[in-house]
Amino acid sequence: MKRWSGRVAVVTGASAGIGAAIAEELVKKGLKVVGLARRVERVEENAKLLRSEPGKLHPLRCDVSKESNVKEAFKWVKSNLGVVDILVNNAGVCDFNNLTDGPPEKWRNIIDINVLGLSMCTREAIQSMREKAVDDGHIININRYSISPGAVKTEIAEASGVPKEILEQYKDNPIMEAKDIADSVMYVLGTPPHVQMSLGLSHVRKYDDDGDFKKL
Ligand SMILES: NC(=O)c1ccc[n+]([C@@H]2O[C@H](COP(=O)([O-])OP(=O)(O)OC[C@H]3O[C@@H](n4cnc5c(N)ncnc54)[C@H](OP(=O)(O)O)[C@@H]3O)[C@@H](O)[C@H]2O)c1
Repeated sequence: MKRWSGRVAVVTGASAGIGAAIAEELVKKGLKVVGLARRVERVEENAKLLRSEPGKLHPLRCDVSKESNVKEAFKWVKSNLGVVDILVNNAGVCDFNNLTDGPPEKWRNIIDINVLGLSMCTREAIQSMREKAVDDGHIININRYSISPGAVKTEIAEASGVPKEILEQYKDNPIMEAKDIADSVMYVLGTPPHVQMSLGLSHVRKYDDDGDFKKL
């Protein structure tokens, strides 16, 4: 990870869950991390907690579904920190409705954030990387493509309206922590520049002292 120290990473959705954990790990590795989120106050709180770490977390309010917000955010990065070396596309929402009963406005919201938001951030990051011919830049997508986690203990289930009784049914199932995904991002960034990979992470299984699977 030494080669990334002092370089610039943008993490979308850095106010909670997986994004907050990734931003924290990157700051601990010495990067200048721009944490984008609508609830920027939460990123500001995390930035305070990380003050003594080698890197720095720069909170920036940004709704990734709004092109003007995205352009403004990357303009701020260029003026204040320089070119982007790493983009972690993590901001995302889901919804408990499905294709058989969901109202289109909910699907539109998901597409606006998870697809168009990711695409606009990617476009801005690539344009930035090209400005200085960054040849080892990384774009890491936390979703169903590059790093594709199984269930992770975050706020997303409640935020997407999963009823409490259903959450209750699954409460004893094995589930990953946000830090597990952050660690996999550190692993990807720690590989030599010629390595490209697509990771799928499923539930972490914990074993007791006898090697038997134990419910979390
Ligand atoms: N948890 C899982 O089991 C799981 C499994 C597979 C994949 N994922 C993916 O992992 C990513 C992170 O999920 P999570 O579980 O950490 O969810 P979470 O705890 O609900 O956090 C979601 C993050 O996305 C941000 N976000 C949402 N809409 C945004 C917008 N319009 N603009 C900017 N930021 C926005 C939120 O920030 P603000 O609300 O402050 O803007 C928040 O920081 C998502 O893309 C999700 O699809 C999660």
